[in-house]
Formats: sequence, structure tokens, C-alpha cells
Amino acid sequence: MSIRYDESQKLLTLDTKRSTYQMLVDQYGFLQHLYYGRKVEKANMSYMTGNYDRGFSGNPYEAKENRSFSLDTLPQEYTSFGVGDFRINGLSVVNGDGSYGADFRYVGHRIEQGKYSIPNMPSVYDNGGEADTLIITLMDHVTRLQVRLYYGVFEEKDIITRAAEIVNVGSLPVKLEKAASMCLDMPFGQWDLVHFHGRHCMERQVERAPLIHSIQTIASKRGMTSHHHNPFIILCDHEANEDHGDCYGMMFMYSGNHKTEIEVDQLENVRVVMGIHDAQFMWNLNPHESFHTPEVIMTYSANGFTTLSHNYHTIIRHNVCRGKYKLASRPILINNWEATYFDFNSEKLLHIARQAAELGVEMFVLDDGWFGARNSDNEGLGDWYVNEQKLPGGLTPLIKEINNMGMKFGIWIEPEMVNENSNLYRAHPDWAFSAPNRHPMMGRNQLVLDFSRQDVQDYIYDAIAKLLAENNIEYVKWDMNRSLADVYSYQMPRERQGEVSHRYVLGVYKLMQRLTERFPNVLFEGCSGGGGRFDPAILYYSPQIWCSDDTDPIERIKIQYGTSFGYPVSTMGAHVSASPNHQTGRTTPLNTRGVVAMSGTFGYELDPNKLSEEEKNEVRRQIATFKKYYWLIQDGLYYRLTNPERGSYYDAWQFVAQDGSEVLLNMVMNSPQPNAAQIHVRLKGLDPDALYQMDGEDRVFSGSALMYGGYTFPLVNGDYPSMQVHLVRI
Ligand code: DGJ
Repeated sequence: MSIRYDESQKLLTLDTKRSTYQMLVDQYGFLQHLYYGRKVEKANMSYMTGNYDRGFSGNPYEAKENRSFSLDTLPQEYTSFGVGDFRINGLSVVNGDGSYGADFRYVGHRIEQGKYSIPNMPSVYDNGGEADTLIITLMDHVTRLQVRLYYGVFEEKDIITRAAEIVNVGSLPVKLEKAASMCLDMPFGQWDLVHFHGRHCMERQVERAPLIHSIQTIASKRGMTSHHHNPFIILCDHEANEDHGDCYGMMFMYSGNHKTEIEVDQLENVRVVMGIHDAQFMWNLNPHESFHTPEVIMTYSANGFTTLSHNYHTIIRHNVCRGKYKLASRPILINNWEATYFDFNSEKLLHIARQAAELGVEMFVLDDGWFGARNSDNEGLGDWYVNEQKLPGGLTPLIKEINNMGMKFGIWIEPEMVNENSNLYRAHPDWAFSAPNRHPMMGRNQLVLDFSRQDVQDYIYDAIAKLLAENNIEYVKWDMNRSLADVYSYQMPRERQGEVSHRYVLGVYKLMQRLTERFPNVLFEGCSGGGGRFDPAILYYSPQIWCSDDTDPIERIKIQYGTSFGYPVSTMGAHVSASPNHQTGRTTPLNTRGVVAMSGTFGYELDPNKLSEEEKNEVRRQIATFKKYYWLIQDGLYYRLTNPERGSYYDAWQFVAQDGSEVLLNMVMNSPQPNAAQIHVRLKGLDPDALYQMDGEDRVFSGSALMYGGYTFPLVNGDYPSMQVHLVRI
């Protein structure tokens, strides 16, 4: 059992293979946090906590003259605002009598086999015998408000999950103004914050800076995960790099407003609080009701970022993603978006499909524009029936022809949105978010449907289910193309409007759950203007997400690099597009576009008829290469060999089979140089004692030579050349 309770010392200890997490129930019943870090054996870590009298840090009433005991300085597991811990708190509550705060004391705990789940929300799951659960109950004895702290321990995978449940066992209603999922105190060490910021077409750029005496916030108030701040942070020591150093990862499994606060307090202690953003959040909790927070996925690595990323890759691939395509090979697709935008008809689509099929593409995806009066992005959203002017006879003849070419057929939807110019909006204007008597903010000229409403969920479910039931659709790209503003539900009373943002997210999850359950053979791909909703909760419903609307391979290297810190390659939607690139205007070789897109789910997003014969042959070669290395790429260990943020003139990354038997090394020159210095990388993760042979050559290298000496690529010239080197253990 990975969870232990020592009654005599009142110690709760969670052990994973390489980390330990420890808590103490103290003499007053407070739940102290003692330790999270590298595995320690037979330890009571309470000796690390020093209590001293600190001015203006008050003391609990029963501590009496003991001024050295203060909630304001004590590392703790979960605290409420208003009762003496002046740092950032997990909870802010207005009690039934109007007072603020909860004085949480331990009342008991439960240890269970298996992993807890969270009602109506996605969470990490156990495939059987992998995880244990600890549930600790704390209570305010006056208001009888409880918080139940959930810990899921995946011992072998070095993962600990956390979530909270706030339960009102009192007799008066209370209002939650903030209900975070977890609080992690780090009483020792000096840390850098690594986070993943960006904008549309430039998601998950890596930034690293030392913490300062402040409260830093990584957050989204856009009603969605956002392109701007991924809900994922790493705290690492100042010297940490890919292979060395203490690193802590915290990833929020949620797709709405989120907030991660990191405070360095008066005594240099660090506290992290992660959860639903408290902006426009308020939850009414009546007696006997409970509120479940979403989950945080934590991991610790004593060996730098690579191990931390591998831990996340494994848990997301095996314990977050679900369904038929979770581990199955996924079809190589062609998507018509950048080839046609809204300007298409059946003939044009079939022309693209025919050529794609001939090149070896396995699935045709019809993107935006096939429904309602959708001739531009100003109209039509909400009307989920075929535009017969573009597609005479509907989808059936089109799909039939495409299937006859030996390809699967996939389709684009954006179910959460509506245009004013649509039959749906004309019939139900109150189904879209807007504040009373005010013009709503427009985003891409569209409005957001109020998914907190059951009738809206049901209507959209019926429309999409009909589409999928009546047609042989084997893939769905689920898009979401604006931030939420004017979040106001015409079905909710005044005092519950603060619940709407979270209820919207719950409504979206419910729809995703219903559709994925009803259509288990359909491959779903998440999307939000590219990677605006790239988070583990969406990955619970769709095992891949379109990584970015920027398909320029040189920009994509940075985006996929940042994404790789938390998410496996098998989740990153990546396509080869036309050159010059539509987002940046940059011209790159087709080979390089292929190399970059292969470090993802791989597909095409161009009109293949516009390719020269030579380029068509290159596409055939790429498809064969991707298929040949499919399992090495999707299932292998991913290593970042260079840091594109550091401005070197080349970038390299590598896949190694889990058993070390095979290696794929990738290199792209991102700024070609005259008289360039050698392109040198040290490989990682090989068997040092084994010999590796390069594809198509007699050359043999020892694993140790490749790892400790390295490999030098032959020098190449031109615009953005790239190379792939495949080695097999002999
Ligand atoms: C945004 C997506 O990211 C694109 O790939 C495309 O599907 C458009 N939406 C269509 O409107």
C-alpha cells in the first residue's frame, strides 16, 4: 500500500517509487504539511518545521501563551481565508451568519484501494491495481463545514493527484467565494517558476524566472483554458535542467477559468494554490450539499525536466486518455481547411480527397463551412444540418465516394457556439450568454451557448448525435473559437449567476461524455482555435488536440517543445501545410514540414493537387516513414535535446523505444548559417553497452559513444533543412 498512517505519531505518508509526501495531524488538530520530495525512508519529517514567535502572525486561541504556533507560518494542507493564515488560501467562504472563514480541524481519514473519481468531471483513472486513495476530512466545528481532501497515489508512475470536496453538514446555507483544488506548501528551497504562456497561433511558450517575494499568478478568466496561460506549472531549483535538479509539476485537469497562485511569504516559504479562478465564481452550498473541485495532477522528479515530462506523458497516455483510439494507431488525415477555407463544393473536396488517397492518406476531414448558411465565419453556427448548395444530396454521397477511395471520413463541429445569423439564434436568443439590456462582446462574430442549461445541452446533443448516427463519420474535430464574456444565464436566479461559468464547463463535459459514450468508435480531436483548450480534461474525452493554428514548422518546433513538457506526442495534432506558410509567410522545405508534423499525430492540410510530382513522391515517402516509426514515435520516450528558446541555429529531439532498442533522432536548422559550426547533439536514454546501427549504412556506434560523445550531423545548406536519423540496437 502506497499510503500509510502511523497512529502513534499521527503521520500520514504517501509513497511513490521515487517520491514521498507526508502530513501530520498536530496537537490542535491542524493538518500540517511536512514534506513532498525525493523519497525518504522511515522518516518523521516534522523535525524540519521550526516554530518561532513572529510579529503580526497571530496564534490560535487554544495555543494561549504559545506565541510560536501560528497558522500564518505553519506549512499546511488546505486553509481558509479569515482565520489567521494571511497567505493565499484554498478556500474563501461566507458562512450562514455572514461571518467569513472556516477553522478546519482533522476529524478522520479513509484509505481505499483504487483511484477516487470526481462526479460529473474528468479525472485520472486507475487501470486496475495501480492506485490508492486517501481521503482526509477536516471540519469547522462551529459551522460544520467540511473539506474532504482527496489524494490519488500512482506508486509506480510517480504521480499524486489532489482534489477537494466541500461539504455543508451544518444547518445554514453558505457561499463559497473561492474553492481551490489544492494547496502545496514548500517550506524549503529556492525555486524557479516555469510556465507556458502565449497567444493565438503561439501557444505554450516556455518562460522561466526565479520566484520573488510576491504572489505570482498564472491564470485564465476567459472561461476556457486559453492560449495565453496553460494550467500547468513547474517549480524547479535554480540549477535544474533536463537531466538534473528538483522539479515539481502541477497540472490542472480543467477547461474553464483557472488560477494558480505562487506566493513567497515573509519566511521564504513557497505556497502554491491551484484551482478554479475566483473571478465571477460563487457557489451556494445549502445544507447537505457538496461541491467537488477539479483535480490537480502532481509529479516530482529529482532528475530534472525529462523525467518529469515522462511521468506526465505516461499518466496522460495511459490514465487520462480513453476510448478505442487511446493506444490504437490513428489514421493519417488530410484536412481541407487551409486548402479551401469556406470556398468549396463536393467536386472540389473530392478532387482533394482523390489525390490524397492516391498518396496514401487514410482519412479525409471536412472542416468548417459544411452546414447552415456558413459561407464565412460570420454566420451559420448552430445550424447543424448540411448546406446543400455546397454539398448537393447532403453528406451521404460525399462520404460514400470518399469511403470508396479507401479513406475514412471525418467532420468539424463547433457545438458550443451560435451566430446571430442562424436559425438557432433566431429561435432561441436567450440560449446565448449576454448580460441583460447590454450588447454582448462578439468574438469571431459569434456568441457562446449557455451550456449550464439542460435544454441547450439536449438540443445540441440531439443535433450532433443525429449527424453522427446518420452518416459514416469516423472522426470529429470539436472546435471552440472565442473567449467567454457576458456570462449570464437567463435560466438562473440572480444569486446563482456566480455558478454559471463552472456550470458551463460541467455542461460541456456532460455533452462530451454523452457523445463519446454513444459513439465509441469515433475518434474525437479537441480544438480551440488551435491549442486554446489544450488540457488534460479535454484529453479525457479526445485523445488528441489540434496543437496550434500556426502550422509553420519553425514556429511549431517551439510550440511542440513547450507542449511536450506536460503532454505526450500522441496528443499533439500536427499537419504538413502549404508553403509559403499561411500564418507566417515563411517558405520551408516539404521534408522539414514532414519531420516536424511527424512529432505529433501527423496529417496534411493543403491541396495535394498543387504539389509537383517530386513533392508528391516526398509525401508518399513521409507517409511510409511515419508508418514505419509509428510506435516508436507514439509510444517511445521523448527527449528534448536542444532548447529552442535559447536561440541556437538548430533544434533536435529524439524518440527512444521504451526498451532502448530503437532511436529516431530529428534535427531542423532553424536559421541557416554560412560556414556553420558543427551540428552536434548528445543522445539520451540509450543502452550504453549496446551497439546501434544506422539505417541504410554499415556504420555502428556504441550507445555510450552516442550519449557521452554524441553525434554530429553532416553540414547542410539552404533554407531550414532537416534530417532524421534512425538507429537500431544490434
Ligand atoms: C479554428 C481551427 O483551429 C482551425 O483549424 C479551423 O478548424 C477553423 N477554426 C475553422 O473555423
